[in-house]
Formats: sequence, structure tokens, C-alpha cells
Amino acid sequence: QAEDGIRDVERSRGLGDVYKRQMKALLLVGGYATRLRPLSLDRPKCLFPVDNKPIIDYLIENLAKANCTEVVLAVNNHAEKIKSYLGEEKHGIKLHYSQEDQPLGTGGPIKLATNYLQDEPFLVLNGDILSWIDYAELMQHHKENHATATLTLKQVSDPTRYGVVRFGENDSIQEFVEKPTREQAPSNWINAGCYALNPEILNTIPEGKVSIERQVFPKLAAQNKLKGYKYHGDWIDIGVPSDYLGADKLIRKTQASINPTCIIHPNATITDSIIWGNTTIGPHTIITSTIIGRNTMIGHHISIKNSVIADNTIIDHNLIITEATIYPNLHIETNIKNREIKT
Ligand code: GDD
Ligand code: MG
Repeated sequence: QAEDGIRDVERSRGLGDVYKRQMKALLLVGGYATRLRPLSLDRPKCLFPVDNKPIIDYLIENLAKANCTEVVLAVNNHAEKIKSYLGEEKHGIKLHYSQEDQPLGTGGPIKLATNYLQDEPFLVLNGDILSWIDYAELMQHHKENHATATLTLKQVSDPTRYGVVRFGENDSIQEFVEKPTREQAPSNWINAGCYALNPEILNTIPEGKVSIERQVFPKLAAQNKLKGYKYHGDWIDIGVPSDYLGADKLIRKTQASINPTCIIHPNATITDSIIWGNTTIGPHTIITSTIIGRNTMIGHHISIKNSVIADNTIIDHNLIITEATIYPNLHIETNIKNREIKT
């Protein structure tokens, strides 16, 4: 009876609160981030700092706000770095790690974590997205609409890099196409990488490497079991350098995000850039729209624009570097324009 009494109190506080109390989430953080190479060679995308804080912190903080209490981190590549950064608990959320022996894609990790997820509807989030999605509201929408899967959808101008949906009636998704050409794209509403799923979906995911976007969502759409939850707020996938810079710009209140361990000469000018730790930058150097990794030494009178420079690089004085991608551990002594430098 006492227990029933408690449930009544919960009910009277509104369904949203009940849903908030029950939430578990799985975070996909095991990808190879090839489009962020060479920066991602020894750092997983989820630990890329946005305004000097790893993007995974924003995701976990937002989950904590929705009263999510348990998170499964689906890890593969760079698992140890993620574990040692996050530990076993963060922002009051208990963290579990589900380790893949082989990369299992975006669906396989969900199947692998069946034991954590089989009891009640749960969330799945891509680990490279900065957004302010209300996860509790998404879950509530999911339960009220009786879908097997509810996808958060965001309207964008170029849908070709994403999963794209065609709407049917009442928020249902009739068709799901992953990375269509412009001509094939059925709309400009895209999969925002944030889902509420019913445990029954676990039975539809095969063992092994699975793309949930290519192998599972299209089938659910055809069976009328896929619904959409429209999101209108800010949203960025940091998967390519320009969007990583864009995400940083959205949050920071300064001209650039410079890790406090860097030593920057007061006569250097840094705009719209991200600079990770332990980097030194000399006088009269101008850096614009560039990402610079750790332990880098950049001399004086250098201009660097629209470039990506990985860890442990030395850049000599008096150079002009534009549209360059520079791999780690190199000593650069010449001007570079629109090239990838590996050795
Ligand atoms: N554990 C694990 N194992 N995670 C993985 C693996 C894997 O083998 N492969 C990728 N991931 C993780 C990535 O780390 C990332 O957090 C997430 O899965 C999505 O992979 P991305 O490589 O970033 O995919 P995408 O950005 O091209 O496309 C996805 O996201 C778009 C939204 O940004 C798709 O879900 C699209 O449909 C969606 O529109
Ligand atoms: Mg992505």
C-alpha cells in the first residue's frame, strides 16, 4: 500500500516526472572520427573540448538534467582514455562501459548492451553532438505515441551528410534514408542522433556490426513503427573541422578557445580557433579558423588560417600556412597552402 501511495504522488506530479525517473541511456562513443584526423588519432571525438570542456560533459550534464540515472558508454576505439576521463560516475549518473572487441557500428553496440537495456524504454545518443534537446520530453513523446523508436529530428539546409526522413501522418516517419544525394533526400529533416527506443528493438538488431541507420530504421519506417520528435534548438555534429569550430563558437564568449595551459604572446592574435593544451605561440603570429592540438610550438610572425595542426608540431618563424592539415610530430619550415603534410 505504501508503495502504491508513492506511485500516486508521482502520478500527480505529471507523467513527465515519472518518465524522468526511469531513464537509462546508451552513448555511442566508439567511432574512429576519420574526418577529424589527425586530431582524432590519439583522442576520441567525445573528448574533443568545446569551450575548453569535452563534448561528452555537455551530453552527460544534459542527461542529468533529464534525471537520467544510468548511462552505458559503448566504447571501442580509445576506450581507456574515455574510462580514465569519466570514471564510474559523473554529474550523479552511474556509468557502465560496454566494450566491443571489434567496431560494431551504430546498432551493434545497442545489441551488445542488451542486459543493461532490456527492461524499459531507453535513449541512444551519438557522442559527437552538441544540442539542448530535452531528453525527458523526448521520452515522454515516445511513450505517448506508442512507437518502437522515436527519432529526434532537426531541420538543416544540407541534409546529405545525415540520415533523412519522409514524414507520414501524425509524426510518423514513412521513410529513412542515410546520407542520400541531394536529389534523393526526401526532405531536409534529419536524424539528430538522439533516439528513444523500446526494448523490443533489441530483437530486430542482428549480432555483429550493424548500422542502425541503414539496417534497422528503414525497416521500422516501412512497418510504421518509427516516429519523429521535432527539435528546433541549436544542434551541431562536431564530426568535421568546420562544424567543430562552429560548435565551439556557439558556446564560447571569447574570441577563441585557448586551453589555460597554453602560453600565448600578448602580441599574437587568435580568432575563431581552438587551441588544446601546452601550446606556445610567439609574437606577431595571427591564427584564424584553425584547430591546434597539444604540445605545439608556433613561432613568431606566422599566419595560420583554416588549418588543422596535430599534436607535438613545431612551426618555424615567418611562415604562411593556409588550408593545411598537419600530422603529429612534424617540424614545419616552409609555407604550406592547401595540403596535407604527413611526413
Ligand atoms: N561504440 C561504437 N562502435 N560507436 C561507434 C561506432 C562503433 O563501431 N561507429 C560509430 N560510432 C559512434 C561515433 O563515435 C558517433 O558518436 C556515433 O556513433 C555516430 O557516428 P558518426 O560517424 O559520427 O556518424 P555520422 O555523423 O556520419 O552520422 C550519424 O549521425 C548523424 C547526426 O549527426 C547518423 O546517425 C546519421 O543518421 C545522423 O543524421
Ligand atoms: Mg557524427
